[in-house]
Amino acid sequence: MTKQKKSSTTLLGRWLYIKKYIKDFTTLGSVAPSSSKASKFLASQIKRNGGYVIELGPGSGTVTQAILDSGIGFDKLIAIEIDKHFYDYMKAKFPKLNILNASATDLKKLLPKHVIGNVSTIISTIPMKNLHHNLRNEIINAAFSVMRPDGNFVQIRYSTQSPIKAKQLGLKQLTYGRVWWNIPPMTTFGYEKEAAKVVKKK
Ligand SMILES: C[S@@+](CC[C@H](N)C(=O)[O-])C[C@H]1O[C@@H](n2cnc3c(N)ncnc32)[C@H](O)[C@@H]1O
Repeated sequence: MTKQKKSSTTLLGRWLYIKKYIKDFTTLGSVAPSSSKASKFLASQIKRNGGYVIELGPGSGTVTQAILDSGIGFDKLIAIEIDKHFYDYMKAKFPKLNILNASATDLKKLLPKHVIGNVSTIISTIPMKNLHHNLRNEIINAAFSVMRPDGNFVQIRYSTQSPIKAKQLGLKQLTYGRVWWNIPPMTTFGYEKEAAKVVKKK
């Protein structure tokens, strides 16, 4: 396992966040990067079965850091970031990270052949509810087209309602939990490929 020196979001990262907040709130979705507590909680939902982990929308990298800290190596992690400024920031912050400046909708085209079908977990902090439902569904379909049958799609939302209509997409929905220590407080949902039913964990 390869680990990189621990670092939180720098002043530049925070500045990029504020700039994007003003210019393009739709694809950013929050006022501040995820807290370390929330990031750790997201990383704890990873299925540890040797497959790949994909992070959608790493932004300034707090969740990326938590994923790496949880024991996922750079060789098993791929990040997809649509925003060029965040992408450049992440390239400088994590030189060993496999990150692509692209949209999550293109996952199947972007990933190498050996990764397709061998993805254990996809962690998404993309503000799904801000997107048109067609775009949202496109991202979910792309995600499940590269996932292992037992994989999970981890998605955040700042309200307590699922941003994805799991039943309509034939997915099982789980509520992993709510982290209050975040601005704003964050609920984490999980989606798995199975017969459509809504299950509350614990
Ligand atoms: C709420 S921010 C989360 C940033 C960071 N992961 C965090 O938790 O602090 C959402 C991120 O998703 C990115 N994003 C939005 N739409 C995307 C898409 N279609 N594909 C990839 N990234 C996207 C944004 O540029 C932004 O970095």
